[in-house]
Amino acid sequence: MIILLDGNPKSDGLCRSLSDAILEGVRQGGAEVVRLDTCDRRLRRCQICGTGWGSCRTEHRCSFGDDGFTAMQEQIHEAAGYILVTPVYWHEMAEGLKSFLDRLRRCEALHASPIRGRGALLLASAGGSGNGILPCLEQMERFCRHVGLTVYDRLGANRWNAEWVREAAREAGRGFARFVLNPSASGPGR
Ligand SMILES: Cc1cc2nc3c(=O)[nH]c(=O)nc-3n(C[C@H](O)[C@H](O)[C@H](O)COP(=O)(O)O)c2cc1C
Repeated sequence: MIILLDGNPKSDGLCRSLSDAILEGVRQGGAEVVRLDTCDRRLRRCQICGTGWGSCRTEHRCSFGDDGFTAMQEQIHEAAGYILVTPVYWHEMAEGLKSFLDRLRRCEALHASPIRGRGALLLASAGGSGNGILPCLEQMERFCRHVGLTVYDRLGANRWNAEWVREAAREAGRGFARFVLNPSASGPGR
């Protein structure tokens, strides 16, 4: 199973059309995919326990995880790969995805986490100019590096390239599913 961590608050528009294209590709590739909504308003931000660390460091779980975070974290542990999708806000990830990943990173980065070594696909969808795609993708990639995910692809879309990036997104989803279902076929240099 693949998890799509969605930072998009909208149910239509460019970003949604791109994540739909990825989902279509993943399903065509034969993998099951579950979308988790990081814009869910019940989710809290990191409460920065103690003097900077809490149970995230010692027990690899969030003390405030009963807001839905822990249930999502458990689903994430079960997945074989991850797709991160966000609109570009202020040249960064949208706030919902950022604060979810802030909490997840604290729980997964400092131990032999089950997600370490798995693959990720990144998609950032910008507005008119496309300004901010690169710093946004870089921010997403930094999360992946901290938790030990291998990034298979980085897609950046705006209104000018949307048509062909949508096609690329479908293909990326299909290819990602293939890699996740058959890990021996994947990996740097192959
Ligand atoms: C608060 C906010 C900040 C935004 N900041 C940027 C930005 O820095 N760069 C950019 O290209 N687009 C920016 N946008 C536009 C979104 O990236 C764009 O709406 C979305 O990715 C794609 O369009 P969609 O809304 O049709 O999905 C911003 C939008 C909002 C709501």
